[in-house]
Order: sequence, then structure tokens, then C-alpha cells
Amino acid sequence: MTTIVIKGGRTLQGTVRVSGSKNAGLPLLFAALLTAERCTMRGLPRVVDILTTLRLLERLGARVGDDEFSSIMVEAREFYSTEAPYDLVKTMRASFLALGPLVARTGRARVSTPGGCAIGSRPVDIHLAGLERMGVRIRHAHGYVEAEAEGPRLRGAKLPLDFPSVGATENLMMAATLADGVTVIENAAREPEIENLAGALVRMGARIEGAGTSNITIEGVRELGGFDVQVIPDRIEAGTLLIAGAIAGGSVYVEGARADHLDSLLVKLEEAGVEVESRDGGIAVTRRDRLVAADVRTSPHPGFPTDLQAQFMALMATAEGRSVIIEDIFENRFMHVQELVRMGADIKVEGKTAAVRGVPQLSGAPVMATDLRASVCLVLAALAAHNTTEISRVYHLDRGYERLEEKLSSVGACISRVRA
Ligand code: UD1
Repeated sequence: MTTIVIKGGRTLQGTVRVSGSKNAGLPLLFAALLTAERCTMRGLPRVVDILTTLRLLERLGARVGDDEFSSIMVEAREFYSTEAPYDLVKTMRASFLALGPLVARTGRARVSTPGGCAIGSRPVDIHLAGLERMGVRIRHAHGYVEAEAEGPRLRGAKLPLDFPSVGATENLMMAATLADGVTVIENAAREPEIENLAGALVRMGARIEGAGTSNITIEGVRELGGFDVQVIPDRIEAGTLLIAGAIAGGSVYVEGARADHLDSLLVKLEEAGVEVESRDGGIAVTRRDRLVAADVRTSPHPGFPTDLQAQFMALMATAEGRSVIIEDIFENRFMHVQELVRMGADIKVEGKTAAVRGVPQLSGAPVMATDLRASVCLVLAALAAHNTTEISRVYHLDRGYERLEEKLSSVGACISRVRA
């Protein structure tokens, strides 16, 4: 069993560089299925979710390569299969992004209904309703979604989304690039990852306007070419590292972090008493005194990201006063609470609301990671805790964080991975 062992109580000092974004990289990899030409992505993080996706693309018939400059190339000249199987999709919900590009390019796809983090029911109805409007017949059989285009090309359509789902916006935007006619996605997600994807699609020859706003218009083309793009910095990893600096105390500069992607977090950090300095090339945080409580409610971008809720809760667990944290995106995203309580936190959950009463000091304990962001929140809590914390089930952490122990050690944390 592999565990992460952290000896808490050290302040952090220094510079740490943020990796490329996992959540921006994943849709870019799937976009490569839209063309027979080579697609190059620079700065993809080497995390398990990216490696799983590369395996999936190879399973479909794509050629995958990399070079020493951390670029990854994907070339999907032909397909052996148009099926995304359960054994790969079950670990990662984002594999459902194979559906739109496959059905748009080949007219058919069979994709397992997704697994991923156990943070809620996470249906895919919005993806499917959009594809149906574009002329795709959908059938559910044996745990798979089977999709077949009614005509030789998908047809452009008006797609009003019930909720600004990130994945559905990406899937439908990709599918629409090769459709016949104009597609308008209404109530689209506005996350920076959508803009990154749209930028790559435009380089491929797609005609897209409005990415980053609630209305995206895509005029379909017959064929797309390759792309060569840089992945944006990972705003969630950056936010996590900033919170690490805040919870442990001291001064941390996160090189590559973009303030325009992290506004909602930075405002809350300042409200809690963290000194925040946004510079051209990154963001610095300094924490001198004990922090004070700040309330947070998660919402779609530009609101407070659900992917930083667990980390912010760890921070509030040591702040002075009572903060209220409302989780409005996923219905089951408080699994970290139990583990934080084992470390001495005072948190009460009722429905989608957590009331956190800060304690002066957390205490180290053996704890268990339950999902990607929950596991990193335990790392953060452990940095501030007395004595040693041992975190098990760290494979959740490896899905989304690149060299986390190395990065935190480089700014003074006492953290190591132990293989028993
Ligand atoms: C993406 C991110 C994930 C982040 C989430 C919300 C990736 C790879 N993952 O996930 O890290 O936590 O955005 O910011 O980018 N929903 C439906 N029906 C659908 C689709 C979604 O009801 O067809 C619901 C979900 O159950 C959830 C909410 O919409 O409650 C948000 O989901 P969505 O934005 O789709 O998240 P993902 O794209 O899966």
C-alpha cells in the first residue's frame, strides 16, 4: 500500500511552478479524434487521467507519441474501433468526451457510461439531449451509450443547456465543428478550459465564436486539420498551492498561476486575511496571522470552483470564527469532512451546507482519500496539523496532481511517499 506521510507545522517559503491543466488537456486530447492530421499539445501534465486518455486513444487506433519538451502528439488517421470501453472509462468521467468527436467524424460511437470520482450521480443527459438535437440516435445498452448519426453529417442545431455543464459544452462544441450548418450552444459553460479548447479547434479550421461566454456559435466545416497548442496552467492546482501557502503560513509564489482564472478564490483568500499579490508571471500569497472565517458558495465559472471547495474548507478549519460553505454543483462532495473531523476539525454538514468552526490547531491522524480534490484537502490540512498524518488511497491524488510531494517539499514541507 502506498501512503503519503506529512509531518505538519512547517511554514512554507519559496517558489513553485504550476503544471499544465489536466481539465484543459483532456478535451484537447479528444479533439484530436476530429482529424486525421497530427495534433500537438504542449505542457500536458503527466498525471494518471492524461495517461488513461492516451491509452484510450490508442485503443481507438490513434498513434500517440511524446518528446523531451513535454509535448504530446496524437494522430488519429484511422480507427480500429469506435468503442470507449468500460475498463478505461470507469476510472474517469472525462472519457465520455470521446462521444462527440467520434460520432461527428465516423457517424458512430459506443461509449461506456462514465465513472470517475464518487461525488454525485453525475448524469450525462445534457450531452445526450444536445447530440440528439444534432441528429444522433442514442440507445442505452449493457452500460453503454450507443450513438449513430442519422445522416452522413450531424446537423447544426440550437442547443439550450439545462445547466452550464463543462463536459457537455465541450462534447457538443467538438461535435458541432463537423456538422452541417450552424450550432448555437445556449447557457454554455464559461470555464477557461472551454476557451482553451475553442482556440485549438479554431486552429484546426473550425469556425467558433463566443467561447468563454454563455452563447457559443459554431459554423460546421467539412474537414478539420491538426493543431499545435499550449495547454493553459492548471488553475485548480494553482489554487491548491496558494491555499497550501495560506494554511501553512509563510510566503509562497506560484509561478505560472493566472489571476484572471482565479478571481473568485483570490477574493476569498483576501477576505480571510491572506496577503495576495498578482504579478505578470504568477501569484504570491503571504500569511502572517491567524486567518478569519469567510463563507463560500460554489457555482459555475466565474463563481467559486467546486474543485477548490475541499481545499478551502481545510483552510477554514483552522481560521478564527464560523464559515458556511455551500456546495451547489455536486450533491455528494463533502466526503472529506469525515476525515477532516478525524484531524480535529469542527464541521457540521446539513444537505449541501457545511458549517465550519475553526479550531486553533488540527492534529495529525491516519486518514483516507476518497476522491481527487478530497485527497489534496487532507494534504493541506496535514501541513497545518500537529505531528504526522498518513494518507492512504493516494491513487486519487495521482489522477490529477503532478509531482505534488516534490513541489511541496521544494517550498519546505515535510512530505514523502511511502510504499509498504
Ligand atoms: C468538469 C471538471 C470537474 C469539475 C466540474 C465542475 C473536467 C475533466 N472535469 O466535470 O473537475 O468539478 O467540471 O466544474 O473538466 N450534469 C448533469 N447532466 C449532464 C452533465 C452534468 O446533470 O449531462 C450535472 C452534474 O451532475 C453536476 C453538474 O452538472 O452536478 C456539473 O457537471 P459538469 O459541469 O458536467 O462537470 P464535468 O464536465 O463532469
